[in-house]
Amino acid sequence: MIPITRLALGDAEAEAAAAVVRSGWLMNGPQTEKFEKLVAEYVGAKHAIAVSSATTGLHLALLGAGVKAGDEVICPSFSFIATANSIRYIGAVPVFVDIDPRTYNIDVAQIEAAVTERTTAIMPVSQIGLPADLMPITDIAARHGLKVVEDAAPSLGSAIDGRRVGSISDFTVFSFDARKILTTGEGGMITTDDPEAATRMRLLRAHAASVSTADRDRANKIVLETYPEVGFNYKITDIQGAIGVVQMGKIAEIVAERRRLAARYAQLFAGDDRIEIPFEPVGFQHVYQSYAVRLHTERTQEDVMHAMMDLGVATRRIFAIHDQPAFADLGEAPELPETMSAAKHAILLPMFVGLTDSEQDDVVAALIKSL
Ligand SMILES: Cc1ncc(COP(=O)(O)O)c(C=O)c1O
Repeated sequence: MIPITRLALGDAEAEAAAAVVRSGWLMNGPQTEKFEKLVAEYVGAKHAIAVSSATTGLHLALLGAGVKAGDEVICPSFSFIATANSIRYIGAVPVFVDIDPRTYNIDVAQIEAAVTERTTAIMPVSQIGLPADLMPITDIAARHGLKVVEDAAPSLGSAIDGRRVGSISDFTVFSFDARKILTTGEGGMITTDDPEAATRMRLLRAHAASVSTADRDRANKIVLETYPEVGFNYKITDIQGAIGVVQMGKIAEIVAERRRLAARYAQLFAGDDRIEIPFEPVGFQHVYQSYAVRLHTERTQEDVMHAMMDLGVATRRIFAIHDQPAFADLGEAPELPETMSAAKHAILLPMFVGLTDSEQDDVVAALIKSL
């Protein structure tokens, strides 16, 4: 079976993790801080806050942005469920806007019509490795006094005109789960240039304690901390931090290899009108966390996915969040024709560092046979 992803972790990650285990300090500590610095430097942001997942990171970033219960947050529905769940954790309301069918990202032309007096933030998703059209989104946000909290879970390393995702929106959140550009098992990172929000998010990440556990341990005297508000435990361990540090050393290589594999898929699919390959707008750097193809065929998406599975190739799809039972209570479903079309016709093919040319040839042959 050719899986949708295969981890590309090596001895260096294993050694780094083992060194933390031997060090006697497992929780959030020096390795996590190093990981945060590397990510901040890499994307060009002033602050990076490591969190237990992109989902918890989005929750914290919305709080950092000042979003409150009853507010509206504009986001796409064509995404992973966590995008909109994070909005609901706060008691805010996701307002779904359709996508641009070529990029699978939020259609900027439709955002402004969704802004109301209750809107306080826009949550664009830089989906499957391609940045959302962030510059005009930033302009719209500025015009209406909104914050941009970007879900860039899949898109570390992507860029617009050489400016990396993570340095453009007010808040950007990345994921390090097993299928992302880097992995630490589970994990996430928030980047921002806002020092006050960064401080607040750091506090909220660790129960909002006035003094951290590490500082209390280092103090060598009795320090009694207080808890001025209700916080969360969204920390990562230093084992994850250490793996992240090693992975950050490989990011240029990882991005280059994913782009090479995407170019090779494009070559192999060239000339077959039934398979629409991903679109990379001029000036945008796609990192191909996933390789999405839109199928122009009579066969249903599910049939194709089953047929490929029978041929030994795993696939995935992206769904419409507003169509999921958990979101039925939001009332009448919005009209999102491009979202529904992409959810029905696009599938994700195996894409990971370590995918061999012969495996890639097999994926292509299986897809063609399954149409
Ligand atoms: C677009 C998007 N947002 C959020 C998430 C959630 O990431 P995590 O698993 O780190 O919480 C994912 C993960 O699949 C994702 O693809």
